[in-house]
Amino acid sequence: MESVHIVVLAAGKGTRMRSATPKVLHRLSGLPLIDHVLRAASTLSPASTVVVVGHEADLVRAHLSTAWPGVRTVLQEPQLGTGHALLMVEPVLAGQSGTVVLLSGDVPLLSPASLGALVARHRDNGAAATVVTAMVERPFGYGRILRTGGDIARIVEERDASPAEREIKEINAGIYVFELEPLFDALRSIGAENAQQEYYLPDLVSIYRRQRRVVATWTISNAAEIRGINSRSELAEVGRIMRQQKHEELMAAGVTLVDPATTYIDVDVQVGADTVIHPGVHLQGSTRIGTACEIHAGSRLVNADLGDRVTILDHCVITNSTVDSECSVGPFAHLRPDAVLGQGARVGNFVELKKTTLGPGAKANHLAYLGDTVVGENTNVGAGTITCNYDGAKKHPTVIGRGAFVGSNSTLVAPITIGDGAYVAAGSAVTEDVPSDALAIGRSRQENKPEWAARRRAAQSTKRKPDS
Ligand code: UD1
Ligand code: CA
Repeated sequence: MESVHIVVLAAGKGTRMRSATPKVLHRLSGLPLIDHVLRAASTLSPASTVVVVGHEADLVRAHLSTAWPGVRTVLQEPQLGTGHALLMVEPVLAGQSGTVVLLSGDVPLLSPASLGALVARHRDNGAAATVVTAMVERPFGYGRILRTGGDIARIVEERDASPAEREIKEINAGIYVFELEPLFDALRSIGAENAQQEYYLPDLVSIYRRQRRVVATWTISNAAEIRGINSRSELAEVGRIMRQQKHEELMAAGVTLVDPATTYIDVDVQVGADTVIHPGVHLQGSTRIGTACEIHAGSRLVNADLGDRVTILDHCVITNSTVDSECSVGPFAHLRPDAVLGQGARVGNFVELKKTTLGPGAKANHLAYLGDTVVGENTNVGAGTITCNYDGAKKHPTVIGRGAFVGSNSTLVAPITIGDGAYVAAGSAVTEDVPSDALAIGRSRQENKPEWAARRRAAQSTKRKPDS
């Protein structure tokens, strides 16, 4: 089998985005546009992948070097059109043989299945070039496919097209397959005599036809897949299509989405069967949710890992945290990075956890901050408990044993250890370790002054008498 080389064009300015961020780094469903393209391309097991960068090249390169270390970049400077862009790749592919699949960095919906079918069709036809086309109701802005006797003859851009040509509804998707051997020589013969004075890659079609090479077309059945993004409005529309695909996948696998229109789930998120997701929920990054969970309205989970039968009540934010099976969290809870909840643990309203582990069955049900803390199995952390983990310079740990009870409104000044089965009296400021099974009372003893209030009232009433 001939090897496949991927080239992704991503040098254009993306003027209509009106953005300081290069177009291909705008994100959809948790990934930059270019990552969607590269992921689909990687399913062809390419021998090499090259991205042509230009506008804001440094930013695009910086992203690619971390996210896609195997992908090479070439610089196109200045950007003189798509034909010129592909020519920039010649030094990288010199001496190679095989097939080039040319993709656009701003066309993120193209599926691996379509790519596979495209390459197979190209090979079956023994073509020098295969152009992906689509039939669309509103062809405005696209290059149109001109045919003679059924075969593709040339492609005309919107701006160069006659009124009659503009009526054509078969458009150029901007995606092609080329045999390497004749490609670069032919690219050099493309001229720039057109409305934009640019070197148009689609002109290769008429050049190949003149050279009597086989130029094939492959018409994609789902035209949505080749939708490009040129504006924020198209970014939102394509985003909606992408979300819909993810929703269909999840619902087919047994997940209930109460209202898909207001549910936002990134591409890599996994959700188990019989889990119910309520409106306004955002599931982001590498979040993984088990079976039979319920995620209530307005919660956002980022890289969260949930077991089975977990309940997340309304309006929680959970980031880089692990929640074991049968836990309940929220409403209004904040699990910051490295919160770990053991099986059946409970976190209630207005509780914030950071780098904190709650053992199985442990509870922090109301109004607490626990940072850099380990809480043992079945321990109860009372309302208003605060770990003072920060002394202004360093963070310090709090360790609370199993079966302990921390009374309401306690202040635990770290570093500190509270032993298994120990009690902390409500309202304590705990500054020294508490041994197992002890009771710590860290507050001044209450004193009652009998009749104090009555005497005060009596004194006040005699003072006021002359005026009344
Ligand atoms: C292009 C096609 C058009 C097709 C459409 C499909 C040309 C001349 N026209 O038009 O027939 O219908 O795509 O979406 O090819 N780029 C570079 N360097 C450049 C110019 C562009 O890398 O000098 C990149 C862009 O970043 C983008 C892609 O090539 O990823 C397409 O360029 P764009 O300007 O968007 O072309 P269209 O006008 O959409
Ligand atoms: Ca485009």
